Amino acid sequence: MKRIKLTIDGKKITARPGTMLLAAALSRGIWIPNLCFIPEAELPFGGCRLCWVEVEGEKDPVTACSRPVREGMAVRTRGQRAERLRKSAFELLLSRHHLDCRNCPKNKNCGLQEIAGRCGYPLKPGRFAREIPGLPVDDSHPKIIYDPNRCVLCGKCVWVCQTKREGVLDFSRRGLACRISTFADRPLGETRCGGCRQCVDICPVGALVRKK
Ligand code: FES
Repeated sequence: MKRIKLTIDGKKITARPGTMLLAAALSRGIWIPNLCFIPEAELPFGGCRLCWVEVEGEKDPVTACSRPVREGMAVRTRGQRAERLRKSAFELLLSRHHLDCRNCPKNKNCGLQEIAGRCGYPLKPGRFAREIPGLPVDDSHPKIIYDPNRCVLCGKCVWVCQTKREGVLDFSRRGLACRISTFADRPLGETRCGGCRQCVDICPVGALVRKK
């Protein structure tokens, strides 16, 4: 199959037709911030809004995880307009995230810390008011601890649980009340979750962690 030729930040790359820009970039070592992207997923979730890029000839920035590559495309990952949107999305995520890195099991292995470090963002919610859900930590499962106050709603745990395992985790509620939960909000330990911990492995922050 003929490969598509494009440039990202001046670097020439090729990709199979139908590949999303983000997947093409990451596979060539070009990093674009992202939290919700799952390469094997059939459709992009597009929830974190961190992967903004600018495409030459297009008025508005686009999310790289949901834009397929196109012949001759010229992409900039750090243009001013994309950067503004990305920083706002990052600050919004932090405004709902229990920021307590020192006591977080994912400290130094966290997607938010990585983005802050690589993009030069402070780990602060910036201009947005803090809206931590204030929900109880679910410690009921023998192998997993779920802290909804650290969740960034990237949906990766839902994808892995629904596609590969028991289908215990899902989104519930809407808007600011949206959260990852189980059927009827039952504690994880009272569900049929067998404890495969793929949700723990895929969680980019400290929301789902192994119980020691
Ligand atoms: S990676 Fe594109 S919106 Fe999350």
